[in-house]
Amino acid sequence: MTDPGSDHTDVTDELARELDRAHVFHSWSAQAQTSSLVIASGRGCRVWDHAGVEYLDFSSQLVNVNIGHQHPAVVSAIREQAELLTTVAPATVNLARGEAAKRIVARAPEGFRRVFFTNGGADANENAIRLARLTTGRDKILSTYRSYHGNTGAAIVSTGDWRRVPNEFARGHVHFFGPYLYRSEFWARSQEEECERALQHLRRVIESEGPQTIAAVLLETVPGTAGVLVPPPGYLAGVRELCDRHGILLILDEVMAGFGRTGRWFAFDGYEVRPDLITFAKGVNSGYVPAGGVIIDEPIAAGF
Ligand SMILES: Cc1ncc(COP(=O)(O)O)c(C=O)c1O
Repeated sequence: MTDPGSDHTDVTDELARELDRAHVFHSWSAQAQTSSLVIASGRGCRVWDHAGVEYLDFSSQLVNVNIGHQHPAVVSAIREQAELLTTVAPATVNLARGEAAKRIVARAPEGFRRVFFTNGGADANENAIRLARLTTGRDKILSTYRSYHGNTGAAIVSTGDWRRVPNEFARGHVHFFGPYLYRSEFWARSQEEECERALQHLRRVIESEGPQTIAAVLLETVPGTAGVLVPPPGYLAGVRELCDRHGILLILDEVMAGFGRTGRWFAFDGYEVRPDLITFAKGVNSGYVPAGGVIIDEPIAAGF
């Protein structure tokens, strides 16, 4: 395969680096130590720099280019829509948005009929949290320490990893340990033990926080940034049961794991669990344009 950008020979990697160093502020980085890898063009699973050096994109950028770079069908759909209309106000009606929502809910479990569209994953979680709080009239959101949910107000505080700590300005968030046998917090020796003890731990956290104060449990179906931590059989069903017992909503963050990443439309399709709210972004359009959203179960949507 040849580099589709190879006719742009007047541009160099060094110019790209110079402009980047001078004017671009990168997320989650000591600015003097950001990557110097230049990506100028892409096709499928390959990307090229300006000198034509080819790389295999094993990480699909930030685990989002699920269908590969520059898929012609998506590129041409973007071009067609851009020529027709590039923006609408939220309160207006638009056929393309309706079509997109219809196709997305067709992949969700029975009963999910509506999508609230956002610009990406963080604001999808932000809005799922607001929907859960408004629906339950409760405040607290429970999420795991080994998680990443985005870089905005409530999403970064829901995040468990250390990027949360200097950004902890939103209230009403409590963290707990999810199952991860390899570094078990529960001294477990098998997946069964890990599952049982992680559920017991969550049950105790819920009881200790006061179940009537908890709006939702927010989980990545398969935690991604924390290390691709596949939940043991029975864990997600157990969390669902605990939520149901206490009138707590279950938000599954499918931003990284959804839209085919685990081989199914949604990662939770591989488990016996039905969430109340599903957040998505990344793979929904492989990140070609900013897009994410919340898929809302009908009883929650009906409250609005
Ligand atoms: C599970 C998960 N949730 C949320 C996000 C945030 O998504 P975005 O970067 O589109 O805001 C990410 C991003 O990596 C993610 O992996």
